[in-house]
Amino acid sequence: MKKISFLVFAMVASLLLVTGCGKDKEVSTTGKEEESNGKTLRIVTDANYAPFEYLEGDKIVGFDVDFINAVAKEAGYEVKLESVGWDPIFVEIEGKRADVAISAITVNDERKQSYDFSVPYFLSTNKILVPEDSDIKSGDELKGNVIAVQTGTTGQEAVEKLLGKNHKDIKKFENNNLAIQELLKGGASAVVADNTVVEEYVKNNPDQKLKVVEDSKSFNEEFYGLMFPKGSELKSEFDKAVNAIYENGKYAEIYKEWFGTDPDIETLKA
Ligand code: ARG
Repeated sequence: MKKISFLVFAMVASLLLVTGCGKDKEVSTTGKEEESNGKTLRIVTDANYAPFEYLEGDKIVGFDVDFINAVAKEAGYEVKLESVGWDPIFVEIEGKRADVAISAITVNDERKQSYDFSVPYFLSTNKILVPEDSDIKSGDELKGNVIAVQTGTTGQEAVEKLLGKNHKDIKKFENNNLAIQELLKGGASAVVADNTVVEEYVKNNPDQKLKVVEDSKSFNEEFYGLMFPKGSELKSEFDKAVNAIYENGKYAEIYKEWFGTDPDIETLKA
């Protein structure tokens, strides 16, 4: 009798070993069981860019935050998100002190030389934020005006294309909120930044009497991507996870929560 129960015990124990029970398991968004390898990633952002990433008290919230949490969970990682500021994001990733950056970062050829990017996860374009009574109706009409931008963004780059590099009329700020403050206090006639950001600002601050001017001739379509140190193994894992949450509806759920409409996933995947 003793012999038999020992045998049963040994069989069960070896079965547990083989199946890997006892390790952390997590139910993923796809409903299938997935292993969490428990590794925590250091993820950096610049939480001054509502509705993508901003502070609510000392908590970082936004579309990007919900998105990266869903993607990381899908890929089996824990997230430690830190707001380090815009320029430092690039320094941290280049120095491999951070694993991933998410910050409404546009993927472009120049950045691709120094960093790796995930598949696209958001479509954007720059637009012009001006007072309601402004005469500015296009990118060309920014000439002769003082324009506020966030340093090192595609907004700065677009304005430089129109006014000239290092033009004296371009005022550069460390974050986009400071650029908007400059506009509000009359130190600039316009801010150029990502459409969703300026559109949300106008919607949420009706008392400021601002409007948004678009100009698809002056400003290109852009795609946001997750940014990794060059050669990072995380890229392929995260690409898979992004595609998984496109397929299983999680991306659409998050998108709808923030923007109230369905995303155009086909454009992102094209
Ligand atoms: N999409 C623009 C760029 O990549 C602006 C992003 C600014 N993001 C931020 N969190 N401040 O240049």
